[in-house]
Amino acid sequence: MTYSRIVGTGRYLPERVMTNFDLEKIVDTSDEWIRTRTGVERRHIVAEDQTTSDMCIEAARVAIEDAGIDVSEIDLVIVGTTSPDLIFPNVATIIQHKLGISPCPAFSLEAACTGFIYALTTADKFIRAGDAKCALVLGAECITKLMDWSDRNTCVLFGDGAGAVIVKPSEEPGLISCHLGADGQYKDLLYYPVGPSRDLAKAGTDEASIMMTGNEVFKVAVKTLGGIAAETLEKAGVAQSELDWLIPHQANIRIIQATAKRLGLPMEKVILTVQDHGNTSAASVPMALDVAIRDGRVKKGQLVLMEAFGGGFTWGSVLMRL
Ligand code: COA
Repeated sequence: MTYSRIVGTGRYLPERVMTNFDLEKIVDTSDEWIRTRTGVERRHIVAEDQTTSDMCIEAARVAIEDAGIDVSEIDLVIVGTTSPDLIFPNVATIIQHKLGISPCPAFSLEAACTGFIYALTTADKFIRAGDAKCALVLGAECITKLMDWSDRNTCVLFGDGAGAVIVKPSEEPGLISCHLGADGQYKDLLYYPVGPSRDLAKAGTDEASIMMTGNEVFKVAVKTLGGIAAETLEKAGVAQSELDWLIPHQANIRIIQATAKRLGLPMEKVILTVQDHGNTSAASVPMALDVAIRDGRVKKGQLVLMEAFGGGFTWGSVLMRL
């Protein structure tokens, strides 16, 4: 049986850092409110002329070097994002071209903050089916370009960035189990009201901003993330005590704490980047993975549970041995 395994990681964060104190000058908020309600202290903001593919290129180059592979080996590119460069061509093809990757399947998929987990799960299936030997999988967002900077309910939460992994076949897992889910009944709790086939004329106007019923999102997120984590471990026959690390979607420290508590996991086993990155949507999990590998916390051979939750709602988890 062939499994898939992450063999390299990388991340890119835009240069510009916006702190909570900077936000105090823009909207009626405070560092204290943002920190206590969300855990966010600062976030990176993409430059005006920078795109999602630009960030992905940087993250991918780091992951390729980390994996010790040549670009010519890559035969699959999948990007999870809700903020691609253009409506088409899909951003994976732009990245493929910019990196000089040979013709191969290259596509983006949109599952909001769960985008990377969906992309990684899809790559796992390609590899296990024998249809790919070396996948570049990314989660990336220029989400601040969609932001209404006068809306304190949302503008304090998000940030930009890109995370990349290289996934290859392996005799040993690797990715042990992947679980995806979605329930469209919650679509009105978190959405962006403009798209190519609906209300496109509103793009760039005051009417185009992230719409969120924060406290309802919070409740469903806590319930769903706790549930999917427990379910993933149970299906894999892994006890919570065997888990070395939880790498959750970095939306809100309180959601993360509640999920860890439900899992009976001490916060020392949880990777946190929300304070430095904010909610970077599809980029949050791969960037957190890269941070924790590079600072030496997550080590080869350890058991790691990654999970995410986002608009739709969508959700997903991946249990893996690094
Ligand atoms: N600064 C100061 N006050 C703010 C504020 C800000 N940035 N944003 C909202 N408030 C105010 C509200 O207007 C409200 O004031 P009121 O009581 O006078 O009406 C008060 O703070 C409480 O608002 P509420 O929405 O009940 O706060 P909350 O404790 O639910 O926290 C969130 C708000 C957004 C931080 C929280 O609901 C949350 O994190 N939800 C999940 C969001 C998320 O993760 N989304 C992405 C999912 S992938």
